[in-house]
Amino acid sequence: MSLLNSPDPAVREAVVAQDLGNVLHPIVQHKVLETKQIVVTHAEGSTIVDADGTEYLDGMAGLWCVNIGYGRAELAEVAADQMRQLSYFPHTAMNVPAAALAEKINGLMGGGYHTYFVNSGSEANEAGFKIARQYMKHEYPGEYRFKTISRYYAYHGTTLATLDAGGMGERKAKFEPFSGDFVHVAPPYCYRCPFGLSYPTCGLACVKAMETTILGEGPETVAEVIVEPVMSGVGVAVPPDEYLPEVESLCRKYGILLHVDEVINGFGRTGKMFAHQHYGVSPDIIAVAKGISSAYQPIAATVVKNTVFDSFYGDPAENRQVAQVNTYGGHPVAAAVALRNIEIMEGERLADRAAETGAYLLDGLRGLMSHKMVGDVRGKGLLIGVELVKDRATKEQLDAAQFGNIIDFCRDHGVIVGRSGGGRRFGTTIAICPPLVITRAECDRIVDTLDQALRAADAG
Ligand SMILES: Cc1ncc(COP(=O)(O)O)c(C=O)c1O
Repeated sequence: MSLLNSPDPAVREAVVAQDLGNVLHPIVQHKVLETKQIVVTHAEGSTIVDADGTEYLDGMAGLWCVNIGYGRAELAEVAADQMRQLSYFPHTAMNVPAAALAEKINGLMGGGYHTYFVNSGSEANEAGFKIARQYMKHEYPGEYRFKTISRYYAYHGTTLATLDAGGMGERKAKFEPFSGDFVHVAPPYCYRCPFGLSYPTCGLACVKAMETTILGEGPETVAEVIVEPVMSGVGVAVPPDEYLPEVESLCRKYGILLHVDEVINGFGRTGKMFAHQHYGVSPDIIAVAKGISSAYQPIAATVVKNTVFDSFYGDPAENRQVAQVNTYGGHPVAAAVALRNIEIMEGERLADRAAETGAYLLDGLRGLMSHKMVGDVRGKGLLIGVELVKDRATKEQLDAAQFGNIIDFCRDHGVIVGRSGGGRRFGTTIAICPPLVITRAECDRIVDTLDQALRAADAG
């Protein structure tokens, strides 16, 4: 049954003309949009609907974010009720939903955290960099501890500083030069280990290299290390279990803050509420966004441990308060929606469901290893990557055009999957990151469609 009652080609045509004449889209080439577009008008569960009535199974939860699925009418009611009561006031004052949401987040973190609200994942990381620097100014007066250690192939956002923190040369090239305040190290990308080693005999060479970099830069110049626990940008890289605890130990050894990017990983995605909770670490700064509201409202946050919070506490004359502000941070409507979104997640046990359904989907996708183009299938919960290669033995990358055809085949057969692959030109890992409510039947459809796409590619 179509989710759209009356598809109207004339309406679709008018929207396309209006859009092409007026909108500047992110990251897609307008010349391509002239011939191929999706005009989304409705969505429910894991399905989005084009104005012409075509339905797509959204294997990417929008942009890795609609964790509770589309079409939850109760969130519209929450937003409307809150807007009637208090539409907005700056967060230099307090408001009811933002206080309740911060308390909820603190509880989910296991206690001991305060939350600073912002509007996007980029801003959450950016605020984290600034909080780390300001913390170091308070704790080490007269010193310059300002650098962030980050990993190649990581993605941490679109602002200049978050892009600089990211390790994707291709995304950065048009905006160079950067500041040099962000120092990059090799990622734990075990399928293509940057050191040519294999786990576990590698002895976690990537962490040793991180220590070498910290020592080389001078620990007294470093404010923080930023890591995304399961790296989405590099084609979904799940690190060895000891990786994050060892990075945390390095941070403690050298008095450096641990900043964890949970923008995609957070809110149930990897099978726990937050991915760092798989590894028993206790980050100092945690950036959250996307799943915090399942994108029903734009809201994000920088969550800081109380040891960091305490550094910002003092008499006004000490000038220790957070030295930044943004207009919409702690927006009552966004906070109210985010809070109900999290309550839905808890009520429906969506983190557990992500673990269960993710294991089922991963198993199905591993069945595709019968195709010689499938080099590796990896993931945690419902964050999964299928890396495609020309030759499994040499791991030579698939041609960009061939990879693009596979993605297009899936879309033309009603299944949206993503493209990931870090700093290499045209990453060739298929990313799968559906709403956490995806059913097993819908997972089967993703596997079957990808199977057909790979068969078509084999035949071509
Ligand atoms: C890991 C990670 N961090 C940060 C961001 C930036 O979030 P936003 O696009 O909301 O600014 C993203 C966006 O995809 C991301 O994947």
